[in-house]
Amino acid sequence: RLQNKNLVIERMIILATNHQKVLLVGDGAVGSSYAFAMAQQGLAEEFVIVDVLKDRTEGDALDLEDTLAWLTPKKIYSGEYSDAKDADLVVITAGAPQKPGETRLDLVNKNLKILSTIVKPIVDAGFSGIFLVAANPVDILTYATWKWSGFDKSRVIGSGTSLDTSRLRVALGKKFNVDARDVNAYIMGEHGDSEFANFDEATIAGKPLLQIAEENGVSRDDLATIEDETRHKAYEIINRKGATFYGVATSLMRISRAILRDENAILPVGAPLDGEYGLTDTFIGSPAVINGQGIDRVVEVPLSADEKEKMAASAATLKEVRDNGFK
Ligand code: 2OP
Repeated sequence: RLQNKNLVIERMIILATNHQKVLLVGDGAVGSSYAFAMAQQGLAEEFVIVDVLKDRTEGDALDLEDTLAWLTPKKIYSGEYSDAKDADLVVITAGAPQKPGETRLDLVNKNLKILSTIVKPIVDAGFSGIFLVAANPVDILTYATWKWSGFDKSRVIGSGTSLDTSRLRVALGKKFNVDARDVNAYIMGEHGDSEFANFDEATIAGKPLLQIAEENGVSRDDLATIEDETRHKAYEIINRKGATFYGVATSLMRISRAILRDENAILPVGAPLDGEYGLTDTFIGSPAVINGQGIDRVVEVPLSADEKEKMAASAATLKEVRDNGFK
């Protein structure tokens, strides 16, 4: 009996210490889709939604609560920045979305202003977890979150080119008739118009993608078209339905899962470079090892000379906009 009781207590301690809390800032289309994805995956025992629109967060918390009889038990509520105190992860999706015809970089001033009202109160609340940033232009907003928080670089992650990489893998999967999850290719650089695909190193089952393409009568031009369509896919979606949200929400869920489950997953994210690709002082799309501590390490893809140039040009584009928008 005593032994049983001890086991029960041990189990309770394990459950108590495994309690994970996520705080979402920004309850627009991206944020609420992320909240829904996290509930579906049974991730985070406690999920707090913060937005200036209180009716919206309260309504969303009530709506999401209605899913719980069929899913994993979870506490979902509308909260405040002060709730970040004991959160493991803060996800920032707050910001203006692109209107048709606008680029992500066009949003920089508006969204830096919004971000500046978010990071400080969260840090002041005593938050000591990991920031995951998705608002656009995401690479610059991730950099600003790092600067303003004073956090170690490993604890600030951008969604970077995770969504773009998913888009590329889906397109290549369709082209070569394989599961998108079995395609090893990345979109790298800015999450935006200067991004590029690493076709020169991409593989499927260890076989070079360029070789597979050749064997299947797919030319370099065809691949360039796929790369271009990937780069422009957000515009296609925005032109039709006004915004993109399921794709990015699922990318955010995937990164969150790697953090909350301490996976050491290699994921394309907005990663802080420290000499990789010859670049420093920038957050930009590159694969990195993600675990419970955040970014464990950046994985430097051995880019070809041509791709390295594209990476440098993309970083330069970001830096120029950053220097103008962010002091
Ligand atoms: C996307 O790529 C707009 O950044 C957003 O879907």
